[in-house]
Amino acid sequence: MRRKLIAGNWKMNCLKADGMALAKAVFDKARGDLPFDVLICPPMSLLGMVAALPHTIGVGAQDVAVAPKASGAYTGDVSAEMVRDLGATHAIVGHSERRALHDEEDFIVQTKAARAIEAGLTAVICIGETLEEREAGKALDVVTDQVRGSVPVIATAENCVIAYEPIWAIGTGKVPTTADVAEVHAAIRAELAAILGSEIAEGMRILYGGSVKPSNAKELLAVDNVDGALIGGASLKADDFWAIAETQM
Ligand code: PGA
Repeated sequence: MRRKLIAGNWKMNCLKADGMALAKAVFDKARGDLPFDVLICPPMSLLGMVAALPHTIGVGAQDVAVAPKASGAYTGDVSAEMVRDLGATHAIVGHSERRALHDEEDFIVQTKAARAIEAGLTAVICIGETLEEREAGKALDVVTDQVRGSVPVIATAENCVIAYEPIWAIGTGKVPTTADVAEVHAAIRAELAAILGSEIAEGMRILYGGSVKPSNAKELLAVDNVDGALIGGASLKADDFWAIAETQM
């Protein structure tokens, strides 16, 4: 049985006061024995401070450096080791915003995922098709190619999570049909089995992301092979984020 993971991606939001208040509110709600895992990914500016608060859930970065070393002459970069050192447990890699705005191709994403895993973090590897690709009937090809190109060979069910985020669903309020989500998630799992073996593929969590809200979370999270959610906008309000999580109680 795969345990569901409810993950918040704060993106480039929150100054110190708002971010600390949001983190505290989520940490308070998430106390105790939960039937699912919870993760929040604040911006790098707040990661250390958030991770230093008392908490019982995962805290992750939104990216790690691709550099081949844990330290050195890489101005502006923060290595996976540094992220781990701040108390993080996870790192998102290959979010579509990074793929698009920073020209991160599959090979970069795969390298970053490997850096995260080697540093002792769980990599949350994001994939997803554009609207053009979906309308051209290429969604499955695009997504399975991204799995093949972005997942490192050292990935296991414990150190890696996949997040399927159709780009046209991110921040738009649009969501794919549950049939489309089921089709893509099944294809992702089949591709994972082809590259990592069926045992690892069966255990690996595949999240859905893109306009997940309290009103649609229950339905999306009930789809076959959907093992959690990666939540952007709705993760910036503790009540909304928690309302999504509570659909899994
Ligand atoms: P959204 O973002 O929930 O605001 O659509 C999801 C994401 O980009 O991770």
